[in-house]
Amino acid sequence: MGLLPAILPVLVVISISASGVLNNPVSQIGRPVAKQMYPRVLKQMYPRLPKLVHPRLPKQMHPRVPKRMYPREPKQRHPNVPRAQPVQSFQDGGTARDVKLTNYKDVFYYGPITIGTPGKTFNVAFDTGSSATWVPSSRCPASNIACQKHEKYNNASSSTYKGDGQSFFTQYDLGEISGYWSQDSVTVAGLTVKNQAFGEAVIESEIFEDTKNDGILGLGFTNVSAGEKPSVFDNMVSQGVLPVPVFSFYLNRMETGGPDSVLTLGGTNPDYYTGDFTYVDLSQPDRWQFKMDRVQLYNGNTIFSRRECPAIVDSSTSLIVGPVDEIDILNIELGGIALPGFPKMYVLDCSKIDNLPDVEFILNGQKLSLSSRDYVLKITDDEDSLCFSGFVGKRFEEGETPTWTLGISFMRAFYTQFDKGRNRIGFAKAIP
Ligand SMILES: *[C@@H]1O[C@H](CO)[C@@H](O)[C@H](O)[C@H]1NC(C)=O
Ligand SMILES: *[C@@H]1O[C@H](CO)[C@@H](O)[C@H](O)[C@H]1NC(C)=O
Repeated sequence: MGLLPAILPVLVVISISASGVLNNPVSQIGRPVAKQMYPRVLKQMYPRLPKLVHPRLPKQMHPRVPKRMYPREPKQRHPNVPRAQPVQSFQDGGTARDVKLTNYKDVFYYGPITIGTPGKTFNVAFDTGSSATWVPSSRCPASNIACQKHEKYNNASSSTYKGDGQSFFTQYDLGEISGYWSQDSVTVAGLTVKNQAFGEAVIESEIFEDTKNDGILGLGFTNVSAGEKPSVFDNMVSQGVLPVPVFSFYLNRMETGGPDSVLTLGGTNPDYYTGDFTYVDLSQPDRWQFKMDRVQLYNGNTIFSRRECPAIVDSSTSLIVGPVDEIDILNIELGGIALPGFPKMYVLDCSKIDNLPDVEFILNGQKLSLSSRDYVLKITDDEDSLCFSGFVGKRFEEGETPTWTLGISFMRAFYTQFDKGRNRIGFAKAIP
């Protein structure tokens, strides 16, 4: 087994939508990552590691960023506006709404929705890589621990429930959910859609037991002409509750103590980004995918990706995934040392990460740079720190198109706007 038990949670996080739209084990991410990744555990397994990682970094080398460096504290700026109220001055006019998200250790974000009348609250992952919405069902058996450990939907408690009865099944890389479809009102940030089809999960794989989220709300595409059920976002658009068919993510960093993470429905919120958006057109009609010009270092002196490489933006992948041959070269260039196992994780020298180069993503001719602060995953326990590269390789089968996945570590650096009306994605520099 080697390394796998220790960093399995990370691998799980990584393996995510590397395999495609509906194959996205989002819920994995809520597992207790840090505990199982204690540097101590890794070092017992790999005695060579201590030489690589400078375990007892003096604290002052990585000072905590003082809060006052980031004066944008929404609470001070909008003292009386609760998060779920309409916010003015959105780019596209009209009324957009913010959903406050909770940041779980910088690897995963989730937020509340309510289902039914009266509404019952569930925490869900908002997943751009899948389209179905599901929550645990009160009808799940006592033996299904994953279901029992989370909030459950009970049709008898809702006056707006409508039965559907078709069976619901969704498969992720490391687990699956089965149950049946139901319909009810679903409310997100005060916006209600009626007769929303969602999955009531009766059987959930064991891997979902420790997730922070109860279920998933898919923000990916549905093909209604192929008989798929319209997503929550589709229904928000068709039921006229959004001014424009756009949603946007601001994902914060735990260390800075900045504003809360936010999903904005129906527009973008200029409080959370600076400068202009770089837009890329979707290259597939059914997923948040586009063609990336290239990935490079040192202003293009070193280029790692194939030209016009497809990339998807995935709010439920923690790291950045790319074809293994390209990622290997990139990580070696960054001074990474590969740990055995697959997907391969690369360890970086924590004392050198401040000097690492920016990794430059060229999108639509514009350069979007990720600094080491964005792409290094630092795991700290009481005594030790370990630094991992946030670039993870995936092997693609013959016939599959090598694709990059720009996950949370990318979206944290770039406020991301998903525009279904104009079939494009926009990136702007996120506030710190
Ligand atoms: C509603 O849930 C109950 C169990 O709580 C179940 O027996 C019933 O069949 C459900 N109603 C429909 C229409 O599926
Ligand atoms: C949606 O489904 C229809 C019917 O199966 C198919 O012809 C069409 O190509 C699909 N559209 C997309 C975007 O996959």
